[in-house]
Amino acid sequence: MKITKICCIGAGYVGGPTMAIIAQKCPQIQVTVVDLNEERIATWNDEDVNNIPIYEPGLSEIVKEARGRNLFFSTEVDKAIDEAEMIFISVNTPTKTYGKGKGMAADLKYIELCARQIARVSTSNKIVVEKSTLPVRTAEAIKSILDNTGNGVKFQILSNPEFLAEGTAVQDLLHPDRILIGGDTTEEGQKAIQALVDVYANWVAVGKILTTNVWSSELSKLTANAFLAQRISSINAMSELCEKTGADVNEVARAIGMDSRIGPKFLKASVGFGGSCFQKDILNLVYIAKSYGLNEVADYWEQVIIMNDHQKRRFSSNIVKTLYNTVSDKKIAFLGWAFKKDTNDTRESAAIYVADDLINENAKIAVYDPKVSYKKVLADLDYLQTRTADKNAESIVSFENPYKACEGAHAVAILTEWDEFVTYDWQKIYDAMQKPAFVFDGRNILNAAELEKIGFVYQAIGS
Ligand code: NAD
Ligand code: UDX
Repeated sequence: MKITKICCIGAGYVGGPTMAIIAQKCPQIQVTVVDLNEERIATWNDEDVNNIPIYEPGLSEIVKEARGRNLFFSTEVDKAIDEAEMIFISVNTPTKTYGKGKGMAADLKYIELCARQIARVSTSNKIVVEKSTLPVRTAEAIKSILDNTGNGVKFQILSNPEFLAEGTAVQDLLHPDRILIGGDTTEEGQKAIQALVDVYANWVAVGKILTTNVWSSELSKLTANAFLAQRISSINAMSELCEKTGADVNEVARAIGMDSRIGPKFLKASVGFGGSCFQKDILNLVYIAKSYGLNEVADYWEQVIIMNDHQKRRFSSNIVKTLYNTVSDKKIAFLGWAFKKDTNDTRESAAIYVADDLINENAKIAVYDPKVSYKKVLADLDYLQTRTADKNAESIVSFENPYKACEGAHAVAILTEWDEFVTYDWQKIYDAMQKPAFVFDGRNILNAAELEKIGFVYQAIGS
């Protein structure tokens, strides 16, 4: 089966960039990305491509090339579903905030709504592709909804999890380590798999396209995220031990990373991992393990989250302790609010939790982030519901100029590893701060010796 029209439901951090690359690499396929969120679609269609809702290096150029040619963004969900031979579901699957599994299980209501809409609207056979990260065996539920429409339309369900990381989404999509496609072992299932393989084969070597059964594919995604997050919690656990023993976590990471069995990546000690995926997916894994009565498996993975929460709290407690046990009415400058560099995404960013802790201690926070607006900062804090929105607004401000953010501050805290922070005139920052001037480097990006020479009291993670 040759695919000529693709529809993607969900124009978010995954749907937008993934479809932009498919459209760029497959000019013969018409790709329509749909979303319920009118504002999001309007910004994807903004005449000035620099205003698209997601900041990713290289993305606006690709959107510029393909948009209007074979890449379209629309709110007409029904029409796009009906026209397409292949439909990607790329909607959000957040942690449940209510009912059974609250705080752990994935909330599949958006997925189910998509399945029901596809069932209602479709008048011809479709391949439905799970792009969202889903609990193992979700395809079964989708299939049950799709197979009960009674209108004779046939559906094949594939699992095709996305492994891109934000900030490097374009490069990850252009040069993936692998593409994973899970499908039915039946003849129809294999044909559907082949149709999706053919799409990717436009730019990915066939040897990198891995096909499995649906359940292995679904579970591989949760497993990959769990392993990656586990490495960060492992090195962060060691960072605390380093601080007590005089070892340096950067040196330890280098030493173990040269062991080819361990490898050098994902060993950067930090203020804690953030992002929309790691915590959500591990909690989901823990929930699934518990639901099968596998308590030891569940506890093992839950520890990754416990360690991460500890690392964030440890960072804020250390600021309070170092500033003579009080930050009340002291200005603390935050460099960075995004959960990592090169993205405007702030979901689960460590900065939010560190700020929340410090505001509980009556600190005044001044934020500078090159890609995050004040509106977003406030929304992130309000979402925690620790205090009123007015109190949050009184306690935190943001600046468009990093030097202004640091002016008069008792301490600077680095929360995101934006490259530009390294190149700042740190002497100028020092001169305008209260003395002693403290720097808490939650990303280990600054040069300790240089900062100490200027006069800063500099503290990094794990040394
Ligand atoms: P997102 O919140 O950025 O985007 C999801 C979009 O889906 C939203 O714009 C929302 O309005 C839309 N939507 C929800 N229900 C809809 C419906 N019924 N009809 C039309 N639109 C609807 O989420 P995201 O970060 O793109 O993540 C999507 C999925 O991909 C999640 O399952 C996530 O776990 C997974 N994932 C994310 C990343 C990442 O880096 N963000 C990486 C790999 C996998
Ligand atoms: C992650 C996975 O990497 C990706 O494969 C998956 O598709 C989605 O989830 P993402 O969350 O976008 O991607 O970014 P990632 O680079 O994994 O970073 C996650 C968090 O871990 C960030 O807060 C980052 O700063 C932190 N991190 C990462 C560390 O603290 N140390 C490291 O060594 C690596």
